[in-house]
Amino acid sequence: MSTEGLSQAQRKMREEGVPQTAIDVFTRYYDQLEQGVTGSIPEDTIEPYLDPQRLEDVRMDPFQAKEVFDKLVVINLNGGLGTSMGMDRAKSLLPVRDGKSFLELIVEQVLAARRATGARLPLLFMNSFRTQADTLEVLAKYPDLPVGDLPLDFLQNKEPKLRTDDLTPVDWKADPSLEWCPPGHGDLYTALQTSGVLQQLLDAGFRYASVSNSDNLGTIPNPVIASWFASSGAPYAAELCRRTPADRKGGHLAVRKADGRLILRDTAQTPPEEMDFFTDEHRHPFFHTNNLWFDLVKLDEVLKANDGVMPLPLIRNEKTVDPADKTSTPVYQIESAMGAAIEVFEGATAIVVGRDRFLPVKATSDLLLVRSDAYDLDDRRALVQRVETVPTVSLDAEHYKLIGDFDERFPAGVPSIREARSLSVEGDHVFGAGVIARGEARVTAEDPREIPDGTVIEG
Ligand code: UTP
Repeated sequence: MSTEGLSQAQRKMREEGVPQTAIDVFTRYYDQLEQGVTGSIPEDTIEPYLDPQRLEDVRMDPFQAKEVFDKLVVINLNGGLGTSMGMDRAKSLLPVRDGKSFLELIVEQVLAARRATGARLPLLFMNSFRTQADTLEVLAKYPDLPVGDLPLDFLQNKEPKLRTDDLTPVDWKADPSLEWCPPGHGDLYTALQTSGVLQQLLDAGFRYASVSNSDNLGTIPNPVIASWFASSGAPYAAELCRRTPADRKGGHLAVRKADGRLILRDTAQTPPEEMDFFTDEHRHPFFHTNNLWFDLVKLDEVLKANDGVMPLPLIRNEKTVDPADKTSTPVYQIESAMGAAIEVFEGATAIVVGRDRFLPVKATSDLLLVRSDAYDLDDRRALVQRVETVPTVSLDAEHYKLIGDFDERFPAGVPSIREARSLSVEGDHVFGAGVIARGEARVTAEDPREIPDGTVIEG
Protein backbone atom coordinates (compact mmCIF):
# COMPACT_ATOMS: atom_id res chain seq x y z
CA MET A 1 0.00 0.00 0.00
CA SER A 2 2.78 2.45 0.85
CA THR A 3 4.71 1.71 -2.38
CA GLU A 4 1.56 3.02 -3.99
CA GLY A 5 1.77 5.95 -1.56
CA LEU A 6 5.26 6.76 -2.80
CA SER A 7 4.27 6.69 -6.47
CA GLN A 8 1.25 8.88 -5.73
CA ALA A 9 3.46 11.36 -3.90
CA GLN A 10 6.05 11.38 -6.68
CA ARG A 11 3.33 11.91 -9.30
CA LYS A 12 1.86 14.75 -7.29
CA MET A 13 5.29 16.39 -7.00
CA ARG A 14 5.98 16.01 -10.73
CA GLU A 15 2.59 17.52 -11.61
CA GLU A 16 3.40 20.44 -9.33
CA GLY A 17 6.70 21.00 -11.14
CA VAL A 18 8.94 20.01 -8.19
CA PRO A 19 12.50 19.41 -9.55
CA GLN A 20 13.62 15.78 -9.90
CA THR A 21 16.44 16.20 -7.33
CA ALA A 22 13.95 17.30 -4.70
CA ILE A 23 11.79 14.28 -5.57
CA ASP A 24 14.87 12.05 -5.14
CA VAL A 25 15.55 13.58 -1.72
CA PHE A 26 11.92 12.98 -0.74
CA THR A 27 12.09 9.38 -2.03
CA ARG A 28 15.15 8.63 0.12
CA TYR A 29 13.32 9.86 3.21
CA TYR A 30 10.12 8.06 2.26
CA ASP A 31 12.04 4.76 2.12
CA GLN A 32 13.45 5.47 5.56
CA LEU A 33 9.99 6.37 6.89
CA GLU A 34 8.64 3.05 5.64
CA GLN A 35 11.50 1.16 7.21
CA GLY A 36 10.60 2.78 10.51
CA VAL A 37 13.86 4.74 10.81
CA THR A 38 13.56 6.84 13.96
CA GLY A 39 16.86 8.73 13.81
CA SER A 40 17.38 8.06 17.53
CA ILE A 41 20.93 8.81 18.80
CA PRO A 42 21.52 7.07 22.15
CA GLU A 43 23.99 8.56 24.61
CA ASP A 44 26.33 5.54 24.51
CA THR A 45 26.96 6.05 20.77
CA ILE A 46 28.40 9.56 21.24
CA GLU A 47 31.11 11.41 23.14
CA PRO A 48 30.52 14.95 24.40
CA TYR A 49 32.11 17.74 22.33
CA LEU A 50 34.04 19.76 24.88
CA ASP A 51 36.76 21.80 23.22
CA PRO A 52 35.50 23.94 20.32
CA GLN A 53 37.31 27.09 19.24
CA ARG A 54 36.08 30.25 21.01
CA LEU A 55 35.39 33.44 19.12
CA GLU A 56 36.88 35.52 21.94
CA ASP A 57 40.28 33.88 21.25
CA VAL A 58 40.24 34.64 17.51
CA ARG A 59 42.40 37.50 16.22
CA MET A 60 41.41 39.02 12.91
CA ASP A 61 43.71 40.06 10.10
CA PRO A 62 41.80 43.05 8.62
CA PHE A 63 43.19 42.50 5.10
CA GLN A 64 42.18 38.90 5.06
CA ALA A 65 38.78 39.77 6.54
CA LYS A 66 38.17 42.23 3.70
CA GLU A 67 39.09 39.60 1.13
CA VAL A 68 36.77 37.03 2.71
CA PHE A 69 33.91 39.52 3.05
CA ASP A 70 34.13 40.17 -0.68
CA LYS A 71 33.38 36.50 -1.26
CA LEU A 72 30.67 36.17 1.36
CA VAL A 73 26.95 35.74 0.76
CA VAL A 74 24.45 36.11 3.59
CA ILE A 75 21.61 33.58 3.50
CA ASN A 76 18.57 34.04 5.65
CA LEU A 77 16.07 31.25 6.34
CA ASN A 78 12.59 32.58 5.89
CA GLY A 79 10.53 29.58 4.81
CA GLY A 80 8.97 28.68 8.17
CA LEU A 81 5.58 29.87 9.29
CA GLY A 82 5.96 30.39 13.02
CA THR A 83 3.22 27.85 13.64
CA SER A 84 4.08 27.63 17.34
CA MET A 85 2.96 31.27 17.62
CA GLY A 86 -0.17 30.52 15.60
CA MET A 87 1.08 32.20 12.42
CA ASP A 88 0.47 31.09 8.86
CA ARG A 89 2.76 33.66 7.27
CA ALA A 90 6.45 34.41 7.64
CA LYS A 91 7.24 35.27 11.25
CA SER A 92 9.77 37.80 9.95
CA LEU A 93 6.93 40.12 8.85
CA LEU A 94 6.13 40.90 12.48
CA PRO A 95 7.12 44.38 13.63
CA VAL A 96 9.91 44.41 16.21
CA ARG A 97 11.17 47.93 16.87
CA ASP A 98 10.93 51.43 15.37
CA GLY A 99 7.98 50.11 13.35
CA LYS A 100 10.39 47.80 11.49
CA SER A 101 9.90 44.08 11.00
CA PHE A 102 12.54 41.37 11.38
CA LEU A 103 12.79 41.35 7.59
CA GLU A 104 13.42 45.09 7.32
CA LEU A 105 15.98 45.06 10.11
CA ILE A 106 17.85 42.15 8.53
CA VAL A 107 18.02 44.07 5.25
CA GLU A 108 19.26 47.17 7.09
CA GLN A 109 21.90 45.13 8.93
CA VAL A 110 23.30 43.94 5.61
CA LEU A 111 23.17 47.40 4.04
CA ALA A 112 25.02 48.79 7.09
CA ALA A 113 27.67 46.05 6.84
CA ARG A 114 28.13 46.89 3.14
CA ARG A 115 28.65 50.55 3.97
CA ALA A 116 31.13 49.67 6.70
CA THR A 117 33.21 47.23 4.66
CA GLY A 118 32.64 48.11 1.01
CA ALA A 119 31.91 44.43 0.33
CA ARG A 120 29.26 43.31 -2.16
CA LEU A 121 27.59 41.12 0.49
CA PRO A 122 24.50 39.80 -1.29
CA LEU A 123 21.54 38.91 0.94
CA LEU A 124 19.53 35.91 -0.17
CA PHE A 125 16.35 34.78 1.53
CA MET A 126 15.27 31.18 1.37
CA ASN A 127 11.49 31.40 1.08
CA SER A 128 8.84 28.74 0.91
CA PHE A 129 5.73 28.87 -1.27
CA ARG A 130 3.91 30.29 1.78
CA THR A 131 6.36 33.15 2.46
CA GLN A 132 7.69 34.28 -0.93
CA ALA A 133 5.09 36.81 -2.15
CA ASP A 134 4.86 38.74 1.14
CA THR A 135 8.63 38.81 1.53
CA LEU A 136 9.36 40.06 -1.98
CA GLU A 137 6.81 42.82 -1.50
CA VAL A 138 8.76 44.11 1.50
CA LEU A 139 12.14 43.73 -0.24
CA ALA A 140 10.92 45.79 -3.19
CA LYS A 141 11.23 48.84 -0.92
CA TYR A 142 15.03 48.52 -1.03
CA PRO A 143 16.24 49.37 -4.54
CA ASP A 144 19.92 49.07 -3.47
CA LEU A 145 19.54 45.57 -2.15
CA PRO A 146 20.07 43.45 -5.30
CA VAL A 147 23.68 42.60 -6.22
CA GLY A 148 24.40 42.16 -9.93
CA ASP A 149 22.15 39.54 -11.49
CA LEU A 150 21.62 37.66 -8.26
CA PRO A 151 18.03 37.21 -7.13
CA LEU A 152 16.87 38.38 -3.69
CA ASP A 153 15.56 34.99 -2.78
CA PHE A 154 15.27 31.40 -3.84
CA LEU A 155 12.34 29.14 -3.27
CA GLN A 156 12.57 26.01 -1.25
CA ASN A 157 10.90 22.87 -2.46
CA LYS A 158 7.53 21.58 -1.44
CA GLU A 159 6.38 18.08 -0.68
CA PRO A 160 3.09 16.37 0.10
CA LYS A 161 2.06 15.79 3.71
CA LEU A 162 1.56 12.04 4.22
CA ARG A 163 -1.33 10.39 6.05
CA THR A 164 0.05 8.64 9.12
CA ASP A 165 -2.23 5.61 8.60
CA ASP A 166 -1.09 4.56 5.11
CA LEU A 167 1.66 7.01 4.08
CA THR A 168 -0.31 8.25 1.06
CA PRO A 169 -0.41 11.98 0.22
CA VAL A 170 -3.25 13.57 2.15
CA ASP A 171 -6.28 15.05 0.32
CA TRP A 172 -7.68 18.27 1.78
CA LYS A 173 -10.38 19.73 -0.41
CA ALA A 174 -11.18 22.49 2.10
CA ASP A 175 -7.78 24.08 1.35
CA PRO A 176 -5.57 22.16 -1.10
CA SER A 177 -2.55 24.34 -0.25
CA LEU A 178 -2.54 22.61 3.15
CA GLU A 179 -1.77 19.31 1.38
CA TRP A 180 1.81 20.61 0.97
CA CYS A 181 4.60 21.57 3.34
CA PRO A 182 8.15 22.88 3.07
CA PRO A 183 10.65 20.10 3.88
CA GLY A 184 12.37 21.82 6.82
CA HIS A 185 15.47 24.02 6.61
CA GLY A 186 17.66 21.04 5.67
CA ASP A 187 16.20 21.67 2.22
CA LEU A 188 18.56 24.66 2.00
CA TYR A 189 21.26 22.65 0.23
CA THR A 190 18.88 21.05 -2.27
CA ALA A 191 17.08 24.33 -2.91
CA LEU A 192 20.35 26.21 -3.51
CA GLN A 193 21.17 23.67 -6.14
CA THR A 194 17.76 23.12 -7.78
CA SER A 195 17.16 26.88 -8.00
CA GLY A 196 20.46 27.32 -9.88
CA VAL A 197 21.54 29.89 -7.26
CA LEU A 198 24.53 27.84 -6.08
CA GLN A 199 25.98 27.86 -9.60
CA GLN A 200 25.18 31.55 -10.03
CA LEU A 201 27.05 32.38 -6.82
CA LEU A 202 30.06 30.30 -7.82
CA ASP A 203 30.11 31.90 -11.27
CA ALA A 204 30.06 35.36 -9.67
CA GLY A 205 33.11 34.48 -7.54
CA PHE A 206 31.40 33.97 -4.18
CA ARG A 207 32.95 31.34 -1.95
CA TYR A 208 31.48 31.46 1.58
CA ALA A 209 27.95 31.48 2.98
CA SER A 210 26.83 32.68 6.40
CA VAL A 211 23.38 31.36 7.26
CA SER A 212 20.93 32.20 10.03
CA ASN A 213 17.23 32.27 10.92
CA SER A 214 15.02 35.23 10.08
CA ASP A 215 13.77 35.37 13.67
CA ASN A 216 17.29 36.00 15.04
CA LEU A 217 18.31 39.65 14.97
CA GLY A 218 21.66 38.89 16.61
CA THR A 219 23.44 37.58 13.54
CA ILE A 220 24.80 40.64 11.85
CA PRO A 221 27.48 39.88 9.23
CA ASN A 222 30.64 39.27 11.25
CA PRO A 223 34.12 39.78 9.69
CA VAL A 224 35.96 38.05 12.56
CA ILE A 225 34.03 34.81 12.20
CA ALA A 226 34.25 35.08 8.40
CA SER A 227 38.01 35.39 8.44
CA TRP A 228 38.39 32.65 11.08
CA PHE A 229 36.22 30.34 8.98
CA ALA A 230 38.11 31.01 5.76
CA SER A 231 41.51 30.54 7.36
CA SER A 232 40.41 27.35 9.15
CA GLY A 233 40.06 25.74 5.72
CA ALA A 234 37.06 23.84 7.11
CA PRO A 235 34.24 23.17 4.65
CA TYR A 236 31.58 23.91 7.24
CA ALA A 237 31.28 25.44 10.73
CA ALA A 238 28.47 25.72 13.27
CA GLU A 239 28.11 28.55 15.77
CA LEU A 240 27.51 27.32 19.31
CA CYS A 241 26.69 29.07 22.58
CA ARG A 242 27.63 28.03 26.09
CA ARG A 243 24.64 26.55 27.83
CA THR A 244 23.16 27.83 31.06
CA PRO A 245 20.85 25.73 33.25
CA ALA A 246 17.92 27.58 31.59
CA ASP A 247 18.94 26.33 28.10
CA ARG A 248 17.13 23.04 28.14
CA LYS A 249 16.11 23.05 24.51
CA GLY A 250 18.24 23.39 21.39
CA GLY A 251 20.36 20.68 19.87
CA HIS A 252 23.97 20.01 20.77
CA LEU A 253 26.97 18.73 18.88
CA ALA A 254 28.66 15.47 19.82
CA VAL A 255 31.36 13.19 18.44
CA ARG A 256 29.96 9.97 16.95
CA LYS A 257 31.96 7.08 18.38
CA ALA A 258 31.57 4.96 15.22
CA ASP A 259 33.53 7.29 12.94
CA GLY A 260 34.72 10.24 15.03
CA ARG A 261 32.54 12.71 13.08
CA LEU A 262 30.83 15.68 14.63
CA ILE A 263 27.06 15.29 14.60
CA LEU A 264 24.08 17.37 15.69
CA ARG A 265 21.63 15.80 18.13
CA ASP A 266 18.24 17.43 18.59
CA THR A 267 15.57 16.71 21.20
CA ALA A 268 13.61 14.58 18.73
CA GLN A 269 16.67 12.34 18.24
CA THR A 270 17.26 11.74 21.95
CA PRO A 271 15.61 8.68 23.54
CA PRO A 272 13.10 10.11 26.08
CA GLU A 273 14.69 8.20 28.99
CA GLU A 274 18.04 9.85 28.18
CA MET A 275 16.83 13.47 28.18
CA ASP A 276 18.70 14.07 31.45
CA PHE A 277 21.98 13.70 29.55
CA PHE A 278 20.70 15.97 26.77
CA THR A 279 19.79 18.80 29.13
CA ASP A 280 22.86 18.44 31.39
CA GLU A 281 24.84 21.63 30.72
CA HIS A 282 27.98 20.08 32.22
CA ARG A 283 27.91 17.00 30.02
CA HIS A 284 26.99 18.81 26.78
CA PRO A 285 28.12 22.37 27.54
CA PHE A 286 27.27 24.05 24.22
CA PHE A 287 24.08 24.30 22.21
CA HIS A 288 23.67 24.74 18.48
CA THR A 289 22.46 28.21 17.43
CA ASN A 290 21.43 27.36 13.84
CA ASN A 291 23.90 30.00 12.63
CA LEU A 292 26.33 28.33 10.31
CA TRP A 293 28.96 28.85 7.67
CA PHE A 294 29.89 26.80 4.67
CA ASP A 295 32.19 26.83 1.70
CA LEU A 296 30.13 26.95 -1.52
CA VAL A 297 32.80 25.07 -3.49
CA LYS A 298 32.82 22.26 -0.92
CA LEU A 299 29.02 22.14 -0.91
CA ASP A 300 29.04 21.78 -4.67
CA GLU A 301 31.52 18.90 -4.36
CA VAL A 302 29.49 17.14 -1.67
CA LEU A 303 26.29 17.47 -3.71
CA LYS A 304 27.96 16.15 -6.85
CA ALA A 305 29.43 13.20 -4.92
CA ASN A 306 25.91 12.30 -3.71
CA ASP A 307 24.01 12.74 -7.00
CA GLY A 308 22.54 15.96 -5.67
CA VAL A 309 20.96 14.27 -2.65
CA MET A 310 22.33 15.71 0.58
CA PRO A 311 22.32 12.72 2.98
CA LEU A 312 20.85 14.39 6.07
CA PRO A 313 19.08 12.37 8.76
CA LEU A 314 15.29 12.19 8.58
CA ILE A 315 13.05 14.09 10.99
CA ARG A 316 9.53 12.70 11.14
CA ASN A 317 7.26 15.48 12.21
CA GLU A 318 3.74 14.47 13.22
CA LYS A 319 1.07 17.16 12.76
CA THR A 320 -2.52 17.55 11.57
CA VAL A 321 -3.20 18.50 7.95
CA ASP A 322 -4.75 21.77 9.12
CA PRO A 323 -2.41 22.96 11.88
CA ALA A 324 -5.21 25.14 13.29
CA ASP A 325 -7.59 22.17 13.59
CA LYS A 326 -6.17 19.49 15.85
CA THR A 327 -9.02 17.13 14.88
CA SER A 328 -8.13 17.16 11.16
CA THR A 329 -6.33 14.21 9.51
CA PRO A 330 -3.03 13.26 11.21
CA VAL A 331 -0.07 13.58 8.85
CA TYR A 332 3.67 13.14 8.78
CA GLN A 333 5.81 15.92 7.41
CA ILE A 334 9.18 14.63 6.25
CA GLU A 335 11.79 17.15 7.30
CA SER A 336 15.50 17.58 7.80
CA ALA A 337 17.59 20.09 9.73
CA MET A 338 20.18 22.31 8.07
CA GLY A 339 22.62 21.92 10.98
CA ALA A 340 22.70 18.12 10.56
CA ALA A 341 24.95 18.73 7.54
CA ILE A 342 27.87 18.91 9.97
CA GLU A 343 28.10 15.12 9.72
CA VAL A 344 28.21 15.20 5.93
CA PHE A 345 31.23 17.52 5.56
CA GLU A 346 34.53 15.87 6.39
CA GLY A 347 36.59 18.24 8.54
CA ALA A 348 33.58 20.28 9.70
CA THR A 349 34.14 22.35 12.82
CA ALA A 350 32.43 24.73 15.25
CA ILE A 351 33.01 27.99 17.12
CA VAL A 352 31.60 29.23 20.41
CA VAL A 353 30.10 32.71 20.00
CA GLY A 354 28.59 35.17 22.46
CA ARG A 355 24.94 35.16 23.40
CA ASP A 356 24.57 38.37 21.37
CA ARG A 357 24.46 36.19 18.23
CA PHE A 358 21.54 34.16 19.50
CA LEU A 359 18.30 36.10 20.02
CA PRO A 360 15.66 33.79 18.56
CA VAL A 361 11.96 34.53 18.74
CA LYS A 362 10.22 31.19 19.12
CA ALA A 363 7.40 32.27 21.42
CA THR A 364 5.50 35.45 22.22
CA SER A 365 7.54 35.82 25.44
CA ASP A 366 10.67 36.14 23.23
CA LEU A 367 8.84 38.70 21.11
CA LEU A 368 8.01 40.71 24.23
CA LEU A 369 11.71 40.71 25.12
CA VAL A 370 12.99 41.90 21.73
CA ARG A 371 10.29 44.58 21.59
CA SER A 372 11.15 45.79 25.09
CA ASP A 373 13.59 48.30 26.53
CA ALA A 374 15.91 45.45 27.61
CA TYR A 375 17.29 45.83 24.07
CA ASP A 376 18.25 48.63 21.74
CA LEU A 377 19.14 48.88 18.08
CA ASP A 378 22.66 50.14 17.48
CA ASP A 379 23.98 51.83 14.33
CA ARG A 380 24.68 48.44 12.76
CA ARG A 381 20.94 47.82 13.27
CA ALA A 382 21.92 44.99 15.60
CA LEU A 383 19.76 44.28 18.58
CA VAL A 384 21.95 44.86 21.62
CA GLN A 385 21.27 44.16 25.23
CA ARG A 386 20.87 47.29 27.42
CA VAL A 387 20.73 45.50 30.75
CA GLU A 388 23.28 43.30 32.44
CA THR A 389 20.96 40.32 32.67
CA VAL A 390 17.96 39.96 30.42
CA PRO A 391 14.84 39.41 32.56
CA THR A 392 12.98 36.13 32.20
CA VAL A 393 9.49 36.53 30.81
CA SER A 394 6.71 34.00 31.21
CA LEU A 395 3.25 34.50 29.79
CA ASP A 396 0.31 32.26 30.40
CA ALA A 397 -0.15 30.01 27.38
CA GLU A 398 -3.93 30.23 27.30
CA HIS A 399 -4.08 33.98 26.66
CA TYR A 400 -0.77 35.01 25.13
CA LYS A 401 0.65 32.08 23.11
CA LEU A 402 -0.88 33.02 19.78
CA ILE A 403 0.31 36.20 18.13
CA GLY A 404 -3.22 37.60 17.62
CA ASP A 405 -4.06 37.14 21.32
CA PHE A 406 -0.71 38.61 22.36
CA ASP A 407 -1.12 41.75 20.21
CA GLU A 408 -4.67 42.32 21.51
CA ARG A 409 -3.38 42.29 25.09
CA PHE A 410 -0.49 44.70 24.49
CA PRO A 411 -2.19 47.22 22.17
CA ALA A 412 0.01 50.12 23.33
CA GLY A 413 3.32 48.26 23.30
CA VAL A 414 4.99 45.97 25.83
CA PRO A 415 5.86 46.99 29.40
CA SER A 416 9.24 48.43 30.35
CA ILE A 417 11.22 45.54 31.82
CA ARG A 418 14.72 46.85 32.15
CA GLU A 419 14.39 47.24 35.90
CA ALA A 420 12.87 43.76 36.26
CA ARG A 421 14.55 40.46 37.02
CA SER A 422 11.49 38.65 35.78
CA LEU A 423 7.97 39.25 34.55
CA SER A 424 5.33 36.61 34.97
CA VAL A 425 1.79 37.08 33.72
CA GLU A 426 -1.10 34.78 34.60
CA GLY A 427 -4.68 35.38 33.51
CA ASP A 428 -6.33 37.49 30.85
CA HIS A 429 -5.14 41.13 30.99
CA VAL A 430 -4.96 44.08 28.66
CA PHE A 431 -1.90 46.25 29.30
CA GLY A 432 -2.10 50.00 29.00
CA ALA A 433 0.68 52.30 27.77
CA GLY A 434 3.85 52.91 29.80
CA VAL A 435 3.44 49.99 32.20
CA ILE A 436 6.67 49.39 34.15
CA ALA A 437 7.79 46.06 35.60
CA ARG A 438 10.35 46.08 38.45
CA GLY A 439 12.12 43.32 40.40
CA GLU A 440 10.27 40.01 40.33
CA ALA A 441 7.16 41.43 38.71
CA ARG A 442 4.01 39.30 38.76
CA VAL A 443 0.54 39.79 37.40
CA THR A 444 -1.87 37.12 38.65
CA ALA A 445 -5.23 35.90 37.42
CA GLU A 446 -6.85 37.70 40.38
CA ASP A 447 -5.58 41.12 39.25
CA PRO A 448 -8.03 43.34 37.32
CA ARG A 449 -8.29 42.64 33.59
CA GLU A 450 -7.27 46.16 32.57
CA ILE A 451 -3.78 47.18 33.65
CA PRO A 452 -4.04 51.00 33.49
CA ASP A 453 -1.53 53.25 31.71
CA GLY A 454 1.60 53.86 33.76
CA THR A 455 1.02 51.06 36.29
CA VAL A 456 4.19 49.98 38.11
CA ILE A 457 4.21 46.22 38.74
CA GLU A 458 6.64 45.44 41.55
CA GLY A 459 7.63 42.03 42.81
P1 UTP B 1 12.04 26.66 13.04
O1 UTP B 1 12.05 25.24 12.73
O2 UTP B 1 12.52 27.12 14.36
O3 UTP B 1 10.58 27.13 12.76
O4 UTP B 1 12.81 27.40 11.90
P2 UTP B 1 9.86 28.50 13.03
O5 UTP B 1 9.62 29.22 11.74
O6 UTP B 1 10.62 29.26 14.07
O7 UTP B 1 8.47 28.17 13.60
P3 UTP B 1 7.60 26.97 14.02
O8 UTP B 1 8.43 25.81 14.45
O9 UTP B 1 6.73 26.71 12.83
O10 UTP B 1 6.85 27.59 15.12
C1 UTP B 1 14.03 28.05 12.05
C2 UTP B 1 14.24 28.93 10.84
O11 UTP B 1 14.21 28.15 9.66
C3 UTP B 1 13.27 28.65 8.74
C4 UTP B 1 12.29 29.47 9.56
O12 UTP B 1 11.72 30.50 8.77
C5 UTP B 1 13.18 30.02 10.67
O13 UTP B 1 13.83 31.19 10.26
N1 UTP B 1 12.68 27.51 8.01
C6 UTP B 1 12.08 26.50 8.69
C7 UTP B 1 12.74 27.49 6.64
O14 UTP B 1 13.29 28.41 6.02
N2 UTP B 1 12.18 26.44 5.98
C8 UTP B 1 11.58 25.43 6.61
O15 UTP B 1 11.07 24.51 5.94
C9 UTP B 1 11.53 25.46 7.99
